[in-house]
Amino acid sequence: MPRCISYSVVGSTQEVATRLAKEGAPHGTAVLAETQLLGRGREGSAWVSPKGGLYCSVVVRPEAPVYPLLSLAAALEVRHALVHHVPKGTISIRWPNDLMIAAKDDARPPRKFGGVLTDVLTRPGSPTLAVVGVGVNVDSRIDDFPPELQEQVAILREFRETPLPIAELGEPVRSAVLRACERLLLPSGRQDLPKALAEHLWGVGRKVTVEGRLGTFTGVGGEGEALVRLDEGGATRPVLPGELHLEAA
Ligand code: BTN
Repeated sequence: MPRCISYSVVGSTQEVATRLAKEGAPHGTAVLAETQLLGRGREGSAWVSPKGGLYCSVVVRPEAPVYPLLSLAAALEVRHALVHHVPKGTISIRWPNDLMIAAKDDARPPRKFGGVLTDVLTRPGSPTLAVVGVGVNVDSRIDDFPPELQEQVAILREFRETPLPIAELGEPVRSAVLRACERLLLPSGRQDLPKALAEHLWGVGRKVTVEGRLGTFTGVGGEGEALVRLDEGGATRPVLPGELHLEAA
């Protein structure tokens, strides 16, 4: 089976890769598409996937814990793979899985240009099998996004002088996902991730509300959980994805 399978249009690369994974596709098999008709984001949201974006799903069989660590580790590695392509931008990661970008020396909040979606397919007791999906707005047209999203999304093309060929990004993004798996397998990989992320994590110090209690987002813990220091009592509370939404505006 080839390492990368490319389509012009699919429903969702995530669904194609999931089918291949269940049929035994090896670790590292990637599915890419130019357009998705039913792109999927986290928490059941749609991922708007017009032409001009990179849509890539990678089958992984890591002997490592995955969720939410793998999404964060993948976001960190994808950031690393993209950052030199956007000299006018600063890329950050918004917990738990968003890739954000702001113009350098610009005080305006960053906008989301990409995201990572990890679907764990493993049944209890069997080796880990997951599909890591990465979506990146590379050279998309802003008019192809619904009006309500146009102010919130960013496109990498804005942060460089020349067009960025999407075809050159598929393999680096696939490799980034595989590096994320390797990182988590290192003896100190899991403990080191929060420190590696800290430098690029967006929103540290932000005031947040968790289950009606006010606090401050202070970073990410060793299991990939968000850490929130509660105003009342000062205790730090671990927070799982879905319990906290960090807004950029
Ligand atoms: C998010 O931020 O909510 C995660 C978005 C993940 C989108 C990617 S695009 C490739 C893959 N196929 C999908 O349908 N979703 C993921």
